Amino acid sequence: MSIPNPPVLDAIYNRRSIREFTDMPITPDTVAEIIKAGGWAPSGLNNQPWRFVIVRDKNVREDLAKFTKYSQIINESQICIAVYLDKRVMYNDVKDHQAAGACIQNMLLATEALGLGAVWLGQILINKDQVNQLFGLDSNYDLMAVLALGHPKHRKQKSQRKEINELILNEF
Ligand SMILES: Cc1cc2nc3c(=O)[nH]c(=O)nc-3n(C[C@H](O)[C@H](O)[C@H](O)COP(=O)(O)O)c2cc1C
Repeated sequence: MSIPNPPVLDAIYNRRSIREFTDMPITPDTVAEIIKAGGWAPSGLNNQPWRFVIVRDKNVREDLAKFTKYSQIINESQICIAVYLDKRVMYNDVKDHQAAGACIQNMLLATEALGLGAVWLGQILINKDQVNQLFGLDSNYDLMAVLALGHPKHRKQKSQRKEINELILNEF
């Protein structure tokens, strides 16, 4: 008899980047839960440098979509969440960026655990200044990613990973 994975491992292993969504809406409570999960990520000195912009409005999402070649994903999603670092509360470039990554991953795992789907969009960063302009944000806010979220149209996504023995450099 095999022992089931703890829920967090289920979320880690079952999470896939979801790029196609149904038109079922996402409730504000669900969005709040996902952002709360992001905010419970670890950060150096517990400085919590992350900030968020929630884009539910279809017209604003269409404007956002113009800044990436992945526009179709944004337009099909129900909600986008832009994740920012607030430069004014940063204390160490590397560590604050690591904290942003932990925050984003928490949000993706929470999304999975809540039965929704999401994809981490990074290509849009080439137009991060225009994204700030769209949101009325000044240069104190540095865009880290846009997450596109919704109910998955299907769960057929496949992905692969290197074997762990390819990853371990040494063991003493
Ligand atoms: C920093 C970063 C940037 C990414 N940017 C994009 C993107 O712009 N568009 C996209 O479709 N997926 C993007 N992804 C998702 C990756 O393509 C995906 O995580 C990877 O192929 C593994 O697939 P999986 O998430 O389904 O396991 C990004 C992921 C990361 C971590």
